[in-house]
Amino acid sequence: MEVGIEGLSIAFPEVYLDLAELAVARGVAPGKYLDGIGTRRMAVALPEEDTVTFAARAAREVLERTGTAPDQIGLLAVGTETAVDHSKPVASFVQGLVGIGPRCRVFETKHACYGGTAALQLSLDWIRSGNARGKKALVVCADIARYGIGTPGEPTQGAGAVALLLSDRPELLAIEAGTAGIAAVDVHDFWRPLYSKDAMVDGHYSVQCYLDAVSGAYQHHKELVNAPPGLYSDHFAALAYHVPYGKMAKKAHRQLRSLDGDVDPDASFERLVAAGLMMPAEIGNIYTGSLYLALASLLENTKAPLAGRPIGLFSYGSGSCAEFYTGVVGPKAQQWVRDLGLPARLAARRSLSIAEYEEIMRAREDLDRRPVGGAPGRDFSFLGVDGHRRTYRGPAQA
Ligand SMILES: CC(C)(COP(=O)(O)OP(=O)(O)OC[C@H]1O[C@@H](n2cnc3c(N)ncnc32)[C@H](O)[C@@H]1OP(=O)(O)O)[C@@H](O)C(=O)NCCC(=O)NCCS
Repeated sequence: MEVGIEGLSIAFPEVYLDLAELAVARGVAPGKYLDGIGTRRMAVALPEEDTVTFAARAAREVLERTGTAPDQIGLLAVGTETAVDHSKPVASFVQGLVGIGPRCRVFETKHACYGGTAALQLSLDWIRSGNARGKKALVVCADIARYGIGTPGEPTQGAGAVALLLSDRPELLAIEAGTAGIAAVDVHDFWRPLYSKDAMVDGHYSVQCYLDAVSGAYQHHKELVNAPPGLYSDHFAALAYHVPYGKMAKKAHRQLRSLDGDVDPDASFERLVAAGLMMPAEIGNIYTGSLYLALASLLENTKAPLAGRPIGLFSYGSGSCAEFYTGVVGPKAQQWVRDLGLPARLAARRSLSIAEYEEIMRAREDLDRRPVGGAPGRDFSFLGVDGHRRTYRGPAQA
Protein backbone atom coordinates (compact mmCIF):
# COMPACT_ATOMS: atom_id res chain seq x y z
CA MET A 1 0.00 0.00 0.00
CA GLU A 2 1.31 3.46 -0.89
CA VAL A 3 0.90 5.99 1.91
CA GLY A 4 2.03 9.55 2.42
CA ILE A 5 0.95 13.16 2.12
CA GLU A 6 -2.42 13.78 0.46
CA GLY A 7 -2.63 17.49 1.27
CA LEU A 8 -0.56 20.24 2.87
CA SER A 9 -1.30 23.77 4.03
CA ILE A 10 0.63 26.48 5.81
CA ALA A 11 -0.33 29.23 8.26
CA PHE A 12 1.90 32.12 9.27
CA PRO A 13 1.50 35.56 10.86
CA GLU A 14 0.51 38.56 8.79
CA VAL A 15 3.44 40.60 10.14
CA TYR A 16 7.18 40.14 9.88
CA LEU A 17 10.43 41.77 10.91
CA ASP A 18 12.99 42.72 8.27
CA LEU A 19 16.31 41.23 9.38
CA ALA A 20 18.38 43.98 7.75
CA GLU A 21 16.60 46.44 10.07
CA LEU A 22 17.11 44.15 13.06
CA ALA A 23 20.82 43.90 12.26
CA VAL A 24 21.17 47.70 12.21
CA ALA A 25 19.26 47.96 15.51
CA ARG A 26 21.59 45.39 17.10
CA GLY A 27 24.76 46.97 15.70
CA VAL A 28 25.47 43.96 13.48
CA ALA A 29 26.47 44.05 9.79
CA PRO A 30 23.26 43.18 7.82
CA GLY A 31 25.29 40.67 5.78
CA LYS A 32 25.59 38.49 8.88
CA TYR A 33 21.83 37.92 9.10
CA LEU A 34 21.02 38.02 5.37
CA ASP A 35 23.92 35.89 4.11
CA GLY A 36 25.65 34.48 7.19
CA ILE A 37 22.37 33.22 8.71
CA GLY A 38 20.44 33.17 5.43
CA THR A 39 17.12 34.72 6.53
CA ARG A 40 15.60 37.93 5.10
CA ARG A 41 12.38 38.22 7.07
CA MET A 42 11.17 36.69 10.28
CA ALA A 43 7.48 36.00 11.00
CA VAL A 44 6.29 37.45 14.32
CA ALA A 45 3.21 36.10 16.10
CA LEU A 46 0.71 38.76 17.20
CA PRO A 47 -0.59 38.65 20.79
CA GLU A 48 -3.89 37.04 19.69
CA GLU A 49 -1.99 34.28 17.88
CA ASP A 50 -0.31 31.23 19.35
CA THR A 51 0.56 27.62 18.52
CA VAL A 52 -3.12 26.68 18.69
CA THR A 53 -4.37 29.38 16.30
CA PHE A 54 -1.67 28.64 13.71
CA ALA A 55 -2.36 24.89 13.96
CA ALA A 56 -6.13 25.37 13.66
CA ARG A 57 -5.79 27.68 10.68
CA ALA A 58 -3.52 25.27 8.79
CA ALA A 59 -5.68 22.25 9.78
CA ARG A 60 -8.92 23.82 8.61
CA GLU A 61 -7.38 24.83 5.28
CA VAL A 62 -6.03 21.35 4.49
CA LEU A 63 -9.40 19.76 5.30
CA GLU A 64 -11.21 22.25 3.06
CA ARG A 65 -8.75 21.96 0.18
CA THR A 66 -8.87 18.15 0.17
CA GLY A 67 -12.65 18.04 0.71
CA THR A 68 -12.10 15.96 3.85
CA ALA A 69 -14.98 15.85 6.31
CA PRO A 70 -13.84 16.13 9.96
CA ASP A 71 -15.22 12.65 10.75
CA GLN A 72 -12.83 11.11 8.21
CA ILE A 73 -9.95 11.97 10.55
CA GLY A 74 -9.12 9.02 12.84
CA LEU A 75 -5.87 10.44 14.24
CA LEU A 76 -5.07 14.07 15.02
CA ALA A 77 -1.57 14.81 16.29
CA VAL A 78 0.11 18.15 16.80
CA GLY A 79 3.90 18.11 16.89
CA THR A 80 5.12 21.10 18.85
CA GLU A 81 7.77 22.27 21.30
CA THR A 82 5.84 25.42 22.17
CA ALA A 83 2.66 23.97 23.61
CA VAL A 84 0.24 26.16 25.57
CA ASP A 85 -0.41 23.81 28.51
CA HIS A 86 1.58 21.22 30.45
CA SER A 87 -1.24 18.68 30.21
CA LYS A 88 -3.95 19.51 27.69
CA PRO A 89 -2.56 18.97 24.19
CA VAL A 90 -2.66 21.62 21.49
CA ALA A 91 -4.39 18.93 19.41
CA SER A 92 -7.47 19.01 21.68
CA PHE A 93 -7.87 22.75 21.17
CA VAL A 94 -7.52 22.17 17.42
CA GLN A 95 -10.05 19.36 17.54
CA GLY A 96 -12.60 21.72 19.07
CA LEU A 97 -11.83 24.63 16.79
CA VAL A 98 -12.05 22.66 13.53
CA GLY A 99 -14.85 20.35 14.69
CA ILE A 100 -13.23 16.91 14.58
CA GLY A 101 -15.49 14.28 16.16
CA PRO A 102 -14.94 11.94 19.13
CA ARG A 103 -13.87 8.78 17.23
CA CYS A 104 -10.36 10.04 16.77
CA ARG A 105 -7.03 9.64 18.60
CA VAL A 106 -6.03 13.15 19.66
CA PHE A 107 -2.59 13.89 21.13
CA GLU A 108 0.56 15.99 21.04
CA THR A 109 4.10 14.85 20.25
CA LYS A 110 7.29 16.49 21.46
CA HIS A 111 10.90 16.13 20.53
CA ALA A 112 12.10 19.67 19.74
CA CYS A 113 11.91 20.21 15.96
CA TYR A 114 11.56 16.45 15.30
CA GLY A 115 8.15 16.14 17.04
CA GLY A 116 6.15 16.58 13.82
CA THR A 117 8.16 13.98 11.93
CA ALA A 118 7.70 11.51 14.81
CA ALA A 119 3.92 11.98 14.52
CA LEU A 120 4.07 11.68 10.73
CA GLN A 121 5.98 8.40 10.73
CA LEU A 122 3.84 6.79 13.43
CA SER A 123 0.69 7.92 11.61
CA LEU A 124 1.90 6.41 8.35
CA ASP A 125 2.55 3.09 10.12
CA TRP A 126 -0.99 3.26 11.57
CA ILE A 127 -2.38 3.61 8.05
CA ARG A 128 -0.14 0.84 6.67
CA SER A 129 -1.17 -1.51 9.50
CA GLY A 130 -4.80 -1.42 8.38
CA ASN A 131 -5.95 -0.11 11.78
CA ALA A 132 -6.95 3.20 10.18
CA ARG A 133 -9.81 1.35 8.39
CA GLY A 134 -9.96 3.93 5.63
CA LYS A 135 -9.62 6.93 7.95
CA LYS A 136 -6.94 9.58 7.51
CA ALA A 137 -4.42 11.15 9.87
CA LEU A 138 -4.04 14.89 10.35
CA VAL A 139 -0.58 15.85 11.60
CA VAL A 140 0.06 19.52 12.33
CA CYS A 141 3.52 20.92 13.02
CA ALA A 142 3.07 24.24 14.84
CA ASP A 143 5.43 26.48 16.81
CA ILE A 144 6.56 29.94 17.77
CA ALA A 145 10.37 29.97 17.76
CA ARG A 146 11.52 32.39 20.42
CA TYR A 147 14.98 33.06 21.77
CA GLY A 148 14.55 36.54 23.13
CA ILE A 149 15.67 40.08 22.40
CA GLY A 150 19.40 40.60 21.98
CA THR A 151 20.36 36.90 22.10
CA PRO A 152 22.45 35.21 19.36
CA GLY A 153 19.35 33.21 18.46
CA GLU A 154 17.22 36.36 17.95
CA PRO A 155 17.59 36.39 14.13
CA THR A 156 16.57 32.72 14.00
CA GLN A 157 13.04 33.14 15.36
CA GLY A 158 9.78 32.71 13.43
CA ALA A 159 6.21 31.41 13.79
CA GLY A 160 3.72 29.29 11.89
CA ALA A 161 2.26 25.87 11.21
CA VAL A 162 2.19 23.24 8.49
CA ALA A 163 -0.74 20.82 8.36
CA LEU A 164 -0.26 17.46 6.63
CA LEU A 165 -3.16 15.23 5.66
CA LEU A 166 -1.84 11.65 5.55
CA SER A 167 -3.61 8.79 3.83
CA ASP A 168 -3.39 5.95 1.33
CA ARG A 169 -3.88 8.53 -1.44
CA PRO A 170 -0.45 10.20 -1.34
CA GLU A 171 -1.03 12.68 -4.14
CA LEU A 172 1.72 15.01 -2.92
CA LEU A 173 4.38 12.64 -1.58
CA ALA A 174 4.41 8.81 -1.30
CA ILE A 175 6.70 8.05 1.64
CA GLU A 176 8.89 4.98 1.47
CA ALA A 177 8.52 2.42 4.27
CA GLY A 178 11.36 0.73 6.10
CA THR A 179 14.30 2.78 4.86
CA ALA A 180 14.30 5.79 7.20
CA GLY A 181 17.77 6.26 8.68
CA ILE A 182 17.64 7.22 12.37
CA ALA A 183 20.18 8.91 14.67
CA ALA A 184 19.28 9.68 18.29
CA VAL A 185 21.73 10.84 21.01
CA ASP A 186 21.11 12.33 24.46
CA VAL A 187 22.67 15.82 24.17
CA HIS A 188 22.04 19.25 25.70
CA ASP A 189 22.28 21.45 22.61
CA PHE A 190 18.93 23.22 22.84
CA TRP A 191 16.27 23.06 25.54
CA ARG A 192 13.62 25.12 27.31
CA PRO A 193 13.29 24.67 31.08
CA LEU A 194 9.74 24.54 32.45
CA TYR A 195 10.21 28.00 33.98
CA SER A 196 11.25 29.72 30.76
CA LYS A 197 9.38 31.06 27.74
CA ASP A 198 12.63 31.50 25.83
CA ALA A 199 14.64 28.60 24.47
CA MET A 200 18.18 28.05 25.79
CA VAL A 201 20.71 27.03 23.25
CA ASP A 202 24.38 26.20 23.08
CA GLY A 203 24.32 27.62 19.55
CA HIS A 204 27.57 26.45 17.97
CA TYR A 205 27.33 23.06 19.71
CA SER A 206 23.76 22.71 18.33
CA VAL A 207 25.13 23.20 14.83
CA GLN A 208 27.67 20.42 15.41
CA CYS A 209 25.00 18.13 16.89
CA TYR A 210 22.82 18.73 13.81
CA LEU A 211 25.74 17.88 11.50
CA ASP A 212 26.59 14.73 13.47
CA ALA A 213 22.93 13.73 13.14
CA VAL A 214 23.08 14.22 9.37
CA SER A 215 25.99 11.78 9.28
CA GLY A 216 24.29 9.22 11.53
CA ALA A 217 20.89 9.27 9.84
CA TYR A 218 22.16 9.43 6.26
CA GLN A 219 24.67 6.59 6.77
CA HIS A 220 21.94 4.49 8.35
CA HIS A 221 19.64 5.16 5.38
CA LYS A 222 22.39 4.21 2.95
CA GLU A 223 22.93 0.93 4.79
CA LEU A 224 19.20 0.16 4.70
CA VAL A 225 18.94 0.72 0.93
CA ASN A 226 22.31 -0.86 0.20
CA ALA A 227 23.38 2.32 -1.54
CA PRO A 228 26.00 1.88 -4.25
CA PRO A 229 29.32 3.66 -3.75
CA GLY A 230 29.68 7.16 -5.19
CA LEU A 231 27.39 10.15 -5.29
CA TYR A 232 24.29 8.32 -4.08
CA SER A 233 22.44 11.57 -3.34
CA ASP A 234 22.44 12.42 -7.07
CA HIS A 235 19.69 9.83 -7.27
CA PHE A 236 17.37 12.44 -5.64
CA ALA A 237 15.68 15.21 -7.60
CA ALA A 238 15.92 17.41 -4.49
CA LEU A 239 16.78 17.32 -0.81
CA ALA A 240 14.80 19.08 1.94
CA TYR A 241 16.53 19.69 5.26
CA HIS A 242 15.26 20.98 8.58
CA VAL A 243 15.86 24.74 8.28
CA PRO A 244 16.39 26.59 11.58
CA TYR A 245 18.02 29.10 9.21
CA GLY A 246 19.17 28.76 5.62
CA LYS A 247 22.89 28.55 6.29
CA MET A 248 22.31 25.50 8.50
CA ALA A 249 20.76 23.64 5.56
CA LYS A 250 23.74 24.62 3.43
CA LYS A 251 26.11 23.19 6.03
CA ALA A 252 23.95 20.05 6.26
CA HIS A 253 24.12 19.54 2.52
CA ARG A 254 27.89 19.99 2.55
CA GLN A 255 28.09 17.29 5.24
CA LEU A 256 25.83 14.90 3.35
CA ARG A 257 27.69 15.29 0.06
CA SER A 258 31.02 14.85 1.83
CA LEU A 259 29.71 11.52 3.15
CA ASP A 260 29.05 10.57 -0.47
CA GLY A 261 32.72 11.37 -1.18
CA ASP A 262 31.98 14.54 -3.15
CA VAL A 263 35.19 16.57 -3.44
CA ASP A 264 33.17 19.72 -4.25
CA PRO A 265 30.23 19.29 -1.85
CA ASP A 266 28.75 22.80 -2.38
CA ALA A 267 28.53 22.42 -6.17
CA SER A 268 25.15 20.63 -6.03
CA PHE A 269 23.58 23.07 -3.55
CA GLU A 270 21.72 25.21 -6.12
CA ARG A 271 20.49 22.14 -8.00
CA LEU A 272 19.32 20.08 -5.02
CA VAL A 273 18.61 22.40 -2.11
CA ALA A 274 18.24 26.14 -2.91
CA ALA A 275 14.57 26.04 -4.04
CA GLY A 276 13.64 24.68 -0.62
CA LEU A 277 15.17 27.62 1.24
CA MET A 278 13.25 30.45 -0.41
CA MET A 279 10.19 30.35 1.82
CA PRO A 280 12.10 29.64 5.04
CA ALA A 281 14.12 32.80 4.27
CA GLU A 282 10.82 34.74 4.34
CA ILE A 283 9.34 33.19 7.50
CA GLY A 284 12.30 32.11 9.64
CA ASN A 285 12.37 29.11 11.95
CA ILE A 286 9.05 27.40 12.67
CA TYR A 287 10.71 24.52 14.54
CA THR A 288 8.61 21.37 13.88
CA GLY A 289 7.21 22.76 10.63
CA SER A 290 10.52 23.96 9.18
CA LEU A 291 11.27 20.80 7.18
CA TYR A 292 7.75 20.83 5.74
CA LEU A 293 7.99 24.52 4.90
CA ALA A 294 11.18 23.61 3.00
CA LEU A 295 9.26 20.82 1.23
CA ALA A 296 6.54 23.29 0.19
CA SER A 297 9.18 25.76 -0.92
CA LEU A 298 10.96 23.23 -3.12
CA LEU A 299 7.66 22.15 -4.70
CA GLU A 300 6.72 25.80 -5.31
CA ASN A 301 10.06 26.96 -6.63
CA THR A 302 11.40 24.02 -8.65
CA LYS A 303 10.65 24.82 -12.27
CA ALA A 304 11.28 21.30 -13.64
CA PRO A 305 8.51 18.71 -13.23
CA LEU A 306 9.11 16.61 -10.12
CA ALA A 307 6.23 14.12 -10.43
CA GLY A 308 7.43 10.55 -10.07
CA ARG A 309 10.87 11.58 -8.87
CA PRO A 310 12.42 10.69 -5.49
CA ILE A 311 13.37 13.30 -2.90
CA GLY A 312 15.19 12.98 0.43
CA LEU A 313 14.05 14.64 3.67
CA PHE A 314 16.12 15.24 6.80
CA SER A 315 14.42 16.02 10.10
CA TYR A 316 16.39 17.07 13.20
CA GLY A 317 15.22 17.73 16.74
CA SER A 318 17.69 18.91 19.37
CA GLY A 319 18.11 16.71 22.34
CA SER A 320 18.36 14.80 19.89
CA CYS A 321 16.61 12.64 17.32
CA ALA A 322 17.01 12.82 13.56
CA GLU A 323 15.73 10.95 10.56
CA PHE A 324 16.57 10.81 6.87
CA TYR A 325 13.67 9.44 4.85
CA THR A 326 12.59 9.45 1.25
CA GLY A 327 9.47 9.87 -0.83
CA VAL A 328 8.31 10.03 -4.42
CA VAL A 329 6.67 13.27 -5.53
CA GLY A 330 3.03 12.82 -6.51
CA PRO A 331 1.37 14.04 -9.69
CA LYS A 332 -0.48 16.93 -8.02
CA ALA A 333 2.28 18.14 -5.71
CA GLN A 334 3.68 21.18 -7.51
CA GLN A 335 0.30 22.50 -8.64
CA TRP A 336 -1.11 21.87 -5.18
CA VAL A 337 1.46 24.09 -3.52
CA ARG A 338 1.16 26.77 -6.21
CA ASP A 339 -2.62 26.84 -5.63
CA LEU A 340 -1.95 27.79 -1.99
CA GLY A 341 -0.88 31.22 -3.27
CA LEU A 342 1.99 31.44 -0.79
CA PRO A 343 4.11 34.07 -2.61
CA ALA A 344 1.12 36.44 -2.75
CA ARG A 345 0.29 35.76 0.88
CA LEU A 346 3.89 36.44 1.89
CA ALA A 347 3.94 39.65 -0.16
CA ALA A 348 0.71 40.87 1.51
CA ARG A 349 2.26 40.83 5.01
CA ARG A 350 3.02 44.01 6.92
CA SER A 351 6.50 44.95 8.09
CA LEU A 352 6.88 45.71 11.81
CA SER A 353 9.10 48.47 13.12
CA ILE A 354 11.71 47.42 15.67
CA ALA A 355 9.68 49.21 18.37
CA GLU A 356 6.50 47.32 17.43
CA TYR A 357 8.36 44.00 17.40
CA GLU A 358 9.91 44.62 20.82
CA GLU A 359 6.52 45.63 22.23
CA ILE A 360 5.00 42.38 20.95
CA MET A 361 7.87 40.38 22.47
CA ARG A 362 7.31 42.08 25.83
CA ALA A 363 3.52 41.61 25.63
CA ARG A 364 3.99 37.86 25.09
CA GLU A 365 5.59 37.59 28.56
CA ASP A 366 2.19 37.97 30.26
CA LEU A 367 -0.08 36.43 27.64
CA ASP A 368 -0.60 33.16 29.51
CA ARG A 369 -2.33 35.09 32.31
CA ARG A 370 -4.09 37.75 30.23
CA PRO A 371 -7.80 37.97 31.07
CA VAL A 372 -10.24 37.49 28.22
CA GLY A 373 -10.61 40.71 26.28
CA GLY A 374 -9.45 42.47 23.17
CA ALA A 375 -11.01 42.52 19.76
CA PRO A 376 -10.44 39.32 17.82
CA GLY A 377 -10.25 40.10 14.15
CA ARG A 378 -9.08 36.98 12.39
CA ASP A 379 -10.35 33.47 11.74
CA PHE A 380 -8.90 31.88 14.88
CA SER A 381 -7.97 34.05 17.85
CA PHE A 382 -6.60 33.53 21.34
CA LEU A 383 -8.91 35.62 23.54
CA GLY A 384 -7.20 35.22 26.92
CA VAL A 385 -7.54 33.11 30.04
CA ASP A 386 -10.83 32.63 31.86
CA GLY A 387 -10.64 30.77 35.19
CA HIS A 388 -7.25 29.28 34.18
CA ARG A 389 -8.82 28.06 30.92
CA ARG A 390 -7.37 29.31 27.63
CA THR A 391 -10.14 30.66 25.47
CA TYR A 392 -10.20 30.83 21.69
CA ARG A 393 -12.57 31.97 19.07
CA GLY A 394 -12.89 30.25 15.72
CA PRO A 395 -15.22 30.82 12.80
CA ALA A 396 -17.76 28.43 14.37
CA GLN A 397 -18.02 30.64 17.45
CA ALA A 398 -17.97 33.96 15.55
C1 LIG B 1 23.29 30.02 14.56
C2 LIG B 1 23.95 30.77 15.70
C3 LIG B 1 24.76 29.80 16.55
C4 LIG B 1 24.89 31.83 15.10
O1 LIG B 1 25.45 32.53 16.19
P1 LIG B 1 26.55 33.70 16.12
O2 LIG B 1 27.69 33.27 16.97
O3 LIG B 1 25.89 34.98 16.46
O4 LIG B 1 26.95 33.81 14.61
P2 LIG B 1 28.33 33.45 13.89
O5 LIG B 1 29.42 34.32 14.37
O6 LIG B 1 28.55 31.97 13.93
O7 LIG B 1 27.96 33.91 12.42
C5 LIG B 1 26.98 33.23 11.66
C6 LIG B 1 27.48 33.17 10.23
O8 LIG B 1 27.46 34.48 9.68
C7 LIG B 1 28.71 34.73 9.04
N1 LIG B 1 28.93 36.19 9.03
C8 LIG B 1 29.28 36.97 10.06
N2 LIG B 1 29.34 38.27 9.66
C9 LIG B 1 29.02 38.28 8.34
C10 LIG B 1 28.89 39.32 7.35
N3 LIG B 1 29.09 40.60 7.66
N4 LIG B 1 28.51 38.97 6.13
C11 LIG B 1 28.29 37.68 5.79
N5 LIG B 1 28.39 36.65 6.68
C12 LIG B 1 28.75 36.96 7.95
C13 LIG B 1 29.69 33.95 9.83
O9 LIG B 1 30.90 33.72 9.11
C14 LIG B 1 28.91 32.66 10.07
O10 LIG B 1 28.93 31.87 8.92
P3 LIG B 1 29.48 30.36 9.01
O11 LIG B 1 28.56 29.64 9.98
O12 LIG B 1 29.37 29.85 7.61
O13 LIG B 1 30.88 30.44 9.52
C15 LIG B 1 22.87 31.48 16.56
O14 LIG B 1 22.06 32.27 15.74
C16 LIG B 1 21.99 30.53 17.34
O15 LIG B 1 22.31 30.15 18.45
N6 LIG B 1 20.81 30.15 16.75
C17 LIG B 1 19.87 29.27 17.40
C18 LIG B 1 20.30 27.80 17.40
C19 LIG B 1 20.13 27.10 16.10
O16 LIG B 1 19.34 27.49 15.26
N7 LIG B 1 20.84 25.97 15.95
C20 LIG B 1 20.79 25.18 14.72
C21 LIG B 1 20.79 23.72 14.94
S1 LIG B 1 19.22 23.19 15.56
